[in-house]
Amino acid sequence: MKGLILSGGKGTRLRPLTYTHAKQLVPVANKPVLFYGIEALKEAGISEIGIIVGDTKEEIKQATGDGSHWDLNITYIEQAAPLGLAHAVKISEEFLRGEPFVMYLGDNILKSGITSLVEEFQQKKPNSLILLTEVANPHMFGVAELEDGRVVRLVEKPKKPASNLALVGVYMFDTHIFEAVKAIKPSWRNELEITDAIQYLVEHGYEVQPHLVTGWWKDTGKIEDILDANRLILETISGSNLGNVDDTSRINGQVVIEQGVVVKNSIIRGPAIIGEKSEIADSYIGPFTSIQNNCKIIHTEIENSIVLEKSEIVEVGGRIDESLIGREVKIFKCPSKPSVYRFMVGDKSEIGIK
Ligand code: G1P
Repeated sequence: MKGLILSGGKGTRLRPLTYTHAKQLVPVANKPVLFYGIEALKEAGISEIGIIVGDTKEEIKQATGDGSHWDLNITYIEQAAPLGLAHAVKISEEFLRGEPFVMYLGDNILKSGITSLVEEFQQKKPNSLILLTEVANPHMFGVAELEDGRVVRLVEKPKKPASNLALVGVYMFDTHIFEAVKAIKPSWRNELEITDAIQYLVEHGYEVQPHLVTGWWKDTGKIEDILDANRLILETISGSNLGNVDDTSRINGQVVIEQGVVVKNSIIRGPAIIGEKSEIADSYIGPFTSIQNNCKIIHTEIENSIVLEKSEIVEVGGRIDESLIGREVKIFKCPSKPSVYRFMVGDKSEIGIK
């Protein structure tokens, strides 16, 4: 069985971060979202993975490499334009060469991985296995309608959802999916929808088996979901300290302190992770915070947040909460009078002030 990870797309809901970087490389607990997918496939015994890339291909290739880091073979498949998930399958036919495969959306994270699902697919051999989960906002997803436990209809982002069962971004297919992706027509948003391709399978007598996911699942396309995923992953970490923490600092709970980190006169309350060579001084780092490498947090309180590499936050009065701060960002107190705010902020940034 092979793997196909989708890592194209524009990530419009994560601007401004995605003006300069791929959404699949936004880190959750200091690890790119994409790597959770790669590791889930590896754990399920898949060693040949194709990654669909678009505009951000160079960055994805540079971060991920040829797969040797995980002892896997990774092949990159270029999608010239984001023409839909079913289009991605269509252009991968040669790579997949008649084998069944798992398609995994590169911005999805599933708590319990996919190993047991791949096993179920291999044992029962349906033409497709789809993952479903109950959500509060089904109109934002592909939605499945079941009758007597069988899939009867799938609709992409329906205005009036027939159920609250959303399609999770992990799908398993045998070769009949190629017949489907070649037969369907683009949707109103000019994409070949995988939902329509699966609907084709249902209508043409192929077996599409539903599997209800009970553990948590996150599509990290929006900031709230990234912060949620960060919380859920941090809840599972065990603390360790490879850095230098002085005697006036306190570390409570599970906190990962990586190599070269310096902590001075600060409190870090886990779960939290502090990336290599970051400096924390006279600060409070609260639960569910991931600070990436080479950051400086000075005289600042922050929790429930993600700070990307090389950012500096210095002397911010008040606590920073539920924030996603990009790379090489500087947030600092204005030294001068009168008391003012000074911003140099990119397009589509969001700043909340009290
Ligand atoms: C895609 C699929 C949708 C699915 C979702 C899961 O939506 O089209 O059916 O429910 O992924 O993450 P998108 O994230 O492209 O809007």
